[in-house]
Amino acid sequence: MEWTDDEKWKQRLLRRKRWLKPLFEQVKPGKIVEFGCGSGFVLEDLSKEFPDSQIVGIDMNQERLDAVAEKNLDNVETMKADITTQIFPDQSIDTILYVGVLHEIFSLSGREKVLETLKLGHKALKDDGILIIQDFLKPPPEPVTISFKNQKTEDIFFRFTREFRIRNIEYEKIKGGVMLDIGDAVEFLTKYRPPSEGDWIEEMGETHHYFTKEDFHEVASEAGFTVKDSIKLLNVEDYFAEIREDIEFDFDENERAWIQLVMEKRM
Ligand SMILES: C[S@@+](CC[C@H](N)C(=O)[O-])C[C@H]1O[C@@H](n2cnc3c(N)ncnc32)[C@H](O)[C@@H]1O
Repeated sequence: MEWTDDEKWKQRLLRRKRWLKPLFEQVKPGKIVEFGCGSGFVLEDLSKEFPDSQIVGIDMNQERLDAVAEKNLDNVETMKADITTQIFPDQSIDTILYVGVLHEIFSLSGREKVLETLKLGHKALKDDGILIIQDFLKPPPEPVTISFKNQKTEDIFFRFTREFRIRNIEYEKIKGGVMLDIGDAVEFLTKYRPPSEGDWIEEMGETHHYFTKEDFHEVASEAGFTVKDSIKLLNVEDYFAEIREDIEFDFDENERAWIQLVMEKRM
C-alpha cells in the first residue's frame, strides 16, 4: 500500500497523540515548561488537561512560536530562547518536558551539550519537581542484516554511509546486502525515502537513534537525576510496510521505538 505524504503525517500525529496519555499521567501541575515546544502539538493538549497550571513553551524558532500564539491557548505563554542556556531561576518549575528535542541538540552539538542542558533543567526544577523526556530510542547494539531488493536502494545505502555526518557507519558486505549494527540499520530505514533532496541533506546531519536506554539513564544520572520510570513507546501502525517493498531485514519492527523517561532530582 502506498501512503500519501498527508496520510503519513496523519499517522504520525495519531501515534504521537497516543503517547501524550502516558506523558500527562506523569505531569505534576503548577508551573509546567516545555523546552523545544515547536508549533505547540503538546502544549495544546497540556493546556486542556491542566487548565489551572501555568504553562510555558520555549523554542528558538519564531515561526513555530507564532503558530502556538495562533492557537490562543488560555494558560500558555511562549518565549523565544535557546534551551541550552539558563532561562529560568533556580527551583522555579514543577514539571519540565523535553519532547522530541534532545536528539536535535545531540545532532548539532553532541552528548556534552545534552548533559549540560539536562543540568540546567535540574537547576530550574523544584526539589520535588518532575522532568520528563520523550525521544527516539536506539536499540542495544546487535549485528543485523539488511538486504536490498533493487539496485536503487543499495545505492542509497552506500550514499548514506558516505554522507551521514553524525557517526561513521560500519558495515560488512554480504550476499545481497550488508551486516551492520541495529542502531545504524534503523537510522537508515527511517531516512532512506526523504520527500526531497533538501530533506535528505538535512537528514544526513541529524540522528534520531542516538542514545540507548542505558545511555539515557547514564546521562540522567550524571545530571543529578534518579530515573523514576522508563518505558518504551511502540509504533502500532505498520511503519515499515512500504520499506519492505525495497528492503528485507531480520529484526523486529518494534526496535524502532521511542522512550519516555520520568526523572526526579536525586537528593
Ligand atoms: C522536533 S520539534 C518537537 C516539537 C514539540 N516538542 C513536539 O513534540 O511537537 C523540536 C523543536 O525543538 C526546537 N529546538 C531545537 N533545539 C533548540 C534549542 N537549542 N533551543 C530552543 N529550541 C530548540 C526546534 O526549533 C523545534 O521546534
